[in-house]
Amino acid sequence: MSPDAAPILNVAGLVKRFGGFHALDGLSFHVAPGEILGLVGPNGSGKTTAINVVSGLYAPDGGEVRFEGQPIGGLASHRLVHRGINRTFQVPKPFMSLTVRENVDVALAYGRARTAPPPVAQLLEDYRLGEVAARPAADLNSAQQKMLDLVRALATAPRLLLLDELAAGLNPAELDWIAQRIKALAAAGMAIIVVEHLMGFIEQITDRVIVLNAGRDIFEGKLAAAVKEPQVIEVFLGGEHAR
Ligand SMILES: Nc1ncnc2c1ncn2[C@@H]1O[C@H](COP(=O)(O)OP(=O)(O)OP(=O)(O)O)[C@@H](O)[C@H]1O
Ligand SMILES: [Mg+2]
Repeated sequence: MSPDAAPILNVAGLVKRFGGFHALDGLSFHVAPGEILGLVGPNGSGKTTAINVVSGLYAPDGGEVRFEGQPIGGLASHRLVHRGINRTFQVPKPFMSLTVRENVDVALAYGRARTAPPPVAQLLEDYRLGEVAARPAADLNSAQQKMLDLVRALATAPRLLLLDELAAGLNPAELDWIAQRIKALAAAGMAIIVVEHLMGFIEQITDRVIVLNAGRDIFEGKLAAAVKEPQVIEVFLGGEHAR
């Protein structure tokens, strides 16, 4: 954790529209090397869209995204992977007919990491995929598919890693284990953005959180402070109370 380090990513006033709908409506945040930032907010608040724009899947319609000081808004995903940004998907889609190992090899070939990534065999062992490395990805359960998605991203040696609900569906023991792994990645200097609904997990691993509502940041700070903010409580509980 290095909260005093200069940000590696700066997002300012980000806008993303789908037709007339503003999925992101002036979102601002930053993350530093070695830091784990949580992005939390109700369903549909724009968390995945934020990851999609920062990782180059969608071009922004407004605002600025800077990585290592350079504007990157609108650059394609493969270019951003080469620059050092990679992500996992809320619903991973591995190449089902390829083996686990081949899926990672595709990422390696496409990733062209600037810095040497860890050996693939080591990554597969580290994320408990060693024994299934020669099996088709179609044989994996959903937790294993999430780990494969993470290994695929790590194989490109990202300096900024975006995790979209990686922990959803893991059992408590797996959650503790993956929390330690994510913390170790940050301790080695990676900047990590974690989107998650599981607040216990967010509390365990994040240094800071951004709370999103309707495509905007409505809170920035520690999760413990966020849950005392009336505006945050309203966003998380308002819908249920209104029902
Ligand atoms: N490709 C798209 N086309 C049209 N609308 C979209 C698209 N992607 C996202 N949206 C809309 O943008 C809003 C934000 O969606 P997003 O997936 O970013 O939310 P989220 O915070 O990740 O939600 P969840 O917690 O359910 O994953 C939603 O209203 C969603 O329907
Ligand atoms: Mg989402």
